[in-house]
Amino acid sequence: MSTVLVLNGPNLGRLGSREPDVYGSADLDELRALLRASAPAGVTVDLRQTDDEAELIHWLYEAVDAGTPVILNPAAFTHYSYALRDAAGLVTKAGVPLIEVHISNPHARETFRHTSVVSAVATGVIAGLGFDSYRLALNYLTTPR
Ligand code: DQA
Repeated sequence: MSTVLVLNGPNLGRLGSREPDVYGSADLDELRALLRASAPAGVTVDLRQTDDEAELIHWLYEAVDAGTPVILNPAAFTHYSYALRDAAGLVTKAGVPLIEVHISNPHARETFRHTSVVSAVATGVIAGLGFDSYRLALNYLTTPR
C-alpha cells in the first residue's frame, strides 16, 4: 500500500478556531504534518477536507476504484447521511479498510451525536482521542498483518 486517504467532512476546515475546547487549537495543516511524520517510509498521506457531501462520496468511490485505505472523519454527516454511509459501505464491501475517526467523543456529547450511521459499515471506529484518533488509525492501516 502506498497511499492512505484521510477524508474530513464539513466544518473540519475550521479546526484551530472552531470550538477549541472540544476540538483543540491545532488546524488541518498541523494534522497533515503530524500524520506525514508518523507514516512509515513509502506511505503517502493524502489528507482532504470538504463541506460537500457529494465530493466526499466521490472521494470514497476513488478509494474503491484504487483500493486505497481510508481514514474518514464524516463530521456531522456521521449522524444522518445515509448516502455517505452507503458510499462507505462500498469501500469496505470491496475489501478496502475504512476507519471512522472522531476528534471528540460523540457519545459524551449531545444525544444526536450518539448515533453514527457510518459505524456499521466501517472496519473500525476510533473516537475521543484528539488527533491521536487519526494517528492510531494510520498505525492500524500501515501495520503489516
Ligand atoms: C466530529 C464529531 C461530530 O459530532 C461533529 O459534527 C464534528 C466532528 C469529531 O471529530 O469529533 O464535526 O466528527
